[in-house]
Amino acid sequence: MKKITTAVFPVAGRGTRFLPVTKACPKEMLPIVDKPLVQYAVEEAVAAGATKIVFVTGRAKRAIEDHFDNDFELERELEEQGKDDLLELLRATVPPGVSFVYVRQPAPLGLGHAVLCAECVVGDEPFFIHLPDDFIHGDVPCLEQMREVYESTGCSVIATEQVPREHTKRYGIVALDDVGVNPARITHIVEKPNPEEAPSTQAVVGRYILTPAIFDLLRTTGRGAGGEIQLTDAISDLLGKESVYSYSFKGTRYDCGNKLGFLRATVEIAMAQPEIGSDFRDMLGEILDKK
Ligand code: G1P
Repeated sequence: MKKITTAVFPVAGRGTRFLPVTKACPKEMLPIVDKPLVQYAVEEAVAAGATKIVFVTGRAKRAIEDHFDNDFELERELEEQGKDDLLELLRATVPPGVSFVYVRQPAPLGLGHAVLCAECVVGDEPFFIHLPDDFIHGDVPCLEQMREVYESTGCSVIATEQVPREHTKRYGIVALDDVGVNPARITHIVEKPNPEEAPSTQAVVGRYILTPAIFDLLRTTGRGAGGEIQLTDAISDLLGKESVYSYSFKGTRYDCGNKLGFLRATVEIAMAQPEIGSDFRDMLGEILDKK
């Protein structure tokens, strides 16, 4: 079985829900307390074994390249000032032995199209896909849990979780061959179905391990939900050729593509920080007492 060493991050979307901040700042650079979403994302992929990080980017995303580049001037300044802790934090943004590749998505044609743009870098290998908007916090990084499933099945794996039926329109939804087991084989997958048509309430979240067979399918995938080339539709075609597993991961997912999800992640991660957690809880208590 081939080892997974490449992770694809489709980050071309403009994040209009967070305007005006996303006018010049990529939504993936929004911080959860002090670390941008995209750094959590890269750390998760590297922990799962990725050594090649592929960003599929678009306009106004240059800050991501700068973030994963060495900043010699600032390093020297911190060195001279003896600020070793900060120096360590700064250097940790560029993990050793990991290469970063940037591919431009020429037009906003959808997630499936973004993934196809990465084919030239991924090649004929299984790979991770990580959508940084879906921030997942837990003891074992989600992609690492999924890699274990891949290693035991040799098949594509998609992270899923239960959502309220009224939310099926926001997600890819899977039907499973045995709802009582985890991981389970997917029998059917559909992008953003209406609640009354959804085959289940088990929703796809932004973590995938896919075999390279997906690329041939993506090449012929037509426009689907929302007029976009959907990854979900290519995965539906993949089901006719290979087994694909749904994996219900351990951990908490925050939808950081919307304001409330983002704020919840911020509050929960801040509360868990050793440095400020306890003061932050006290502060929240004071604020709520005043209401
Ligand atoms: C994408 C996928 C969808 C998946 C979701 C997870 O949708 O197309 O199947 O459930 O990510 O966040 P998007 O949120 O980009 O509309």
